Amino acid sequence: MEKIHSIDLMGLHEAEQEKSVDFQPTTFDQYLGQEPLKEKLAIYTQAAKMRNEQLDHLLLFGPPGLGKTTLAQIMAQVMGVAIKLCSGPMMERTGDLVSILSSLEPRDILFIDEIHRMPTNVEEVLYSAMEHFRVDVIIGQGVGARSVSLPIHPFTLVGATTKSGALSAPLRSRFGIIERIDFYTDIELAKIVKQSAAYLNIAITDTSALLIGACSRGTPRIAKKILRRVRDFAQVTNNNNANEQLVCEALAFLGIDHTGLTTLDNMLLRKIIEHFNGGPVGLETLASLIGEDAQTIETVYEPFLLRKGFLEKTSRGRQIPRTQIAALTKKFLGQDLIE
Ligand SMILES: Nc1ncnc2c1ncn2[C@@H]1O[C@H](COP(=O)(O)OP(=O)(O)O)[C@@H](O)[C@H]1O
Ligand SMILES: [Mg+2]
Repeated sequence: MEKIHSIDLMGLHEAEQEKSVDFQPTTFDQYLGQEPLKEKLAIYTQAAKMRNEQLDHLLLFGPPGLGKTTLAQIMAQVMGVAIKLCSGPMMERTGDLVSILSSLEPRDILFIDEIHRMPTNVEEVLYSAMEHFRVDVIIGQGVGARSVSLPIHPFTLVGATTKSGALSAPLRSRFGIIERIDFYTDIELAKIVKQSAAYLNIAITDTSALLIGACSRGTPRIAKKILRRVRDFAQVTNNNNANEQLVCEALAFLGIDHTGLTTLDNMLLRKIIEHFNGGPVGLETLASLIGEDAQTIETVYEPFLLRKGFLEKTSRGRQIPRTQIAALTKKFLGQDLIE
């Protein structure tokens, strides 16, 4: 099946670009929104720093693009330690993780993105590393091979995951702090847009910033991406003023509608209306209908749709809430629902 063109919510191809051209917060003050979480983490990092100790291992969970990596980087900055960034699926063999762990200096932060996707045997290396700051390595070969336990420097593991339920119990239990990072409000996103606009030298009105905020699915990565497209449109039309018309053009270009739904979100809702009369329908069926894998739908697309009340989870599958059916039928099929 043909893959639908939709904005890349995972940000796999965006991360590099956004880090090189766009503003990146390096202090808790520059990190806007998430006040309760920020407050807690600021206290933990300050306290650990004063004790001259490593921070407790921290697990951050929440959808992509909400600022998990950025938070870990800020924490390292505040602690005055180095941070190593890696991702679960990237580590294929236990040796990969052992060599990273042995290279850490005291109190350094090891950030593992998508930690739930680490192979099981690699994950097991983490257990004694996290708990006793030791790793087991095999020395020698064949019959003479033996396992020795070597010390490593005390470090802090910051794990990030889009799905906390996918984490194994033994791994989860080794985190001292488990925090959830939630979607941003439109106003918080508007502030993030203005912060980036100032850095990128774009004149933007409050209304335009709020318009971008309202269409960003509660996600800073998307807000910043829209802003960068607005900047492109401003540049080619030789107009340094990011007005609402330019914002609308950028949104259309990215396939985002005025409620913040992407092409894929709309496709998903449309299929439920068109083929299942509003549902319920199983996740796997939906996934195959729109050509996206079930895990991605569940962790990347669904949380926002659930939060906005466009979708409901029931024991028999996903369905459109009754209150939304009439409006969505009209939106997708262009016809009024005859009750
Ligand atoms: N609270 C925030 N304030 C300002 N910018 C933010 C904030 N959270 C995230 N960002 C920006 O959004 C983008 C995505 O953040 P990132 O930390 O990579 O998200 P995640 O790791 O959760 O996928 C980055 O460009 C980052 O600078
Ligand atoms: Mg990240």
